[in-house]
Amino acid sequence: MINSIPQPAFYIFKCQQSAPPGMPKPSCVSQNNPESQELFQFLAQTLMQKGIIATVQPIQTSCLNRCQQGPVMLVEPGHTMYVGLTKAKISRIVDEHIIGGSVVEEFVIADEVWGEPVLPSQMVR
Ligand code: FES
Repeated sequence: MINSIPQPAFYIFKCQQSAPPGMPKPSCVSQNNPESQELFQFLAQTLMQKGIIATVQPIQTSCLNRCQQGPVMLVEPGHTMYVGLTKAKISRIVDEHIIGGSVVEEFVIADEVWGEPVLPSQMVR
């Protein structure tokens, strides 16, 4: 019998978009916010230290289109968008959501900027 390789329990998509200096548009990784440059590494290290990196896969992505709310990251499954991230918030998200199973509602994006999805079948030409 072949033992299967388990799929990850979670993927965490961390926006790593960085706007060029002088660009007025905000970005999730910014020269004006030194902590923003360390968040992905902090996330990966936290998952490693907790021994869960094999089942929780951190992914670096480009812009997730919620730049005004950055730094952001999306947790799947669940379609949970976390905003205004800091190291302290990432620690709590890993402990309470990823390990504990409870979404950290106070760090979740506001409903006004995260409405219900439009199904592709409703948009297709
Ligand atoms: S730069 Fe991160 S969401 Fe756009």
